Amino acid sequence: MKVVVLGGGIMGNGIAQLAATAGDDAVVRDVGEAQLERAFAAVETSLARFVKSGRLTQADADAARARVRGTTDLAAALDGADVVVEAVPEVLELKRELWAEVVEHAPVSALLGTNTSQLSITSIAAALGDHAPRLVGVHFFNPPVMMRLVELIAGLRTDPAEVERARAFAERLGKTVVVCRKDSPGFITSRAYAILRLECVRMLEEGVASAEDIDTALKLGFNFPMGPLELGDMNGVDTYVHAIDGLAEAHGERFRATVGLRNMVAAGRLGRKSGAGFYDYDGDGRVIR
Ligand SMILES: NC(=O)c1ccc[n+]([C@@H]2O[C@H](COP(=O)([O-])OP(=O)(O)OC[C@H]3O[C@@H](n4cnc5c(N)ncnc54)[C@H](O)[C@@H]3O)[C@@H](O)[C@H]2O)c1
Repeated sequence: MKVVVLGGGIMGNGIAQLAATAGDDAVVRDVGEAQLERAFAAVETSLARFVKSGRLTQADADAARARVRGTTDLAAALDGADVVVEAVPEVLELKRELWAEVVEHAPVSALLGTNTSQLSITSIAAALGDHAPRLVGVHFFNPPVMMRLVELIAGLRTDPAEVERARAFAERLGKTVVVCRKDSPGFITSRAYAILRLECVRMLEEGVASAEDIDTALKLGFNFPMGPLELGDMNGVDTYVHAIDGLAEAHGERFRATVGLRNMVAAGRLGRKSGAGFYDYDGDGRVIR
């Protein structure tokens, strides 16, 4: 099977690695050679970790690596594709433009999936014209090679048969699938987690508890591997505010960003990447206590 991944960033290179490990030919299409090199390096580092931890043999890792190829040529990438997974940045217009081009080159039999975290599948699909019923939201989690869930989303015009094809594809990659039957912004996961984190932010701003105690409470009380605030720092506070602005537009007031969150963004407290967010970090990225 030929799996084409559009965008070889954090998610794209992981999805390509998953497909290659499952025995598929994975072709990453990105906009430049430097981006492709970065994607290959990420795949190699990750495969080496699998070998080191005994989850893959060196021979299987080498074979998987050999099945990952890259190109900047969209038409060449799509030639003979069985599956196309798009993982370009979360910008509606970018995704729409790319998909309009993809349907010109991809075989009509190809399964088409977008890995958007919360954009409307229906809006992206509108750019596919008559091919709109083919597009399915195929939401992998970060890192795709580790996280067990794939959330499938049906747009308003998505053909249910395509959702079932996407399910078979994801299950073949070893994932457990949930289906979001309605194209509702934030789907199941991003919507639920955004509001949970927002309540943690509100508690922090009200002085109910320290950031550390809120995170510890959630981790030990509910078996979360990371607290919502530390994870917020890891993903970027600006990214989070951008996401909840979209959810507020769709679902209303309860997703409205707090004044404190907007001030953090205005002050450049964006999380780990800026050295400060809900926590302060030293030069090596360790939390300053
Ligand atoms: N990072 C996460 O935790 C996460 C989790 C789930 C879903 N997502 C979603 O996955 C998608 C990708 O996110 P990411 O974190 O991998 O982004 P990223 O910025 O790491 O990677 C995006 C890649 O797409 C490439 N690109 C840009 N325009 C392109 C084009 N026209 N054709 C091909 N490649 C192009 C970029 O060069 C880059 O390599 C987004 O929609 C995001 O919301 C991200």
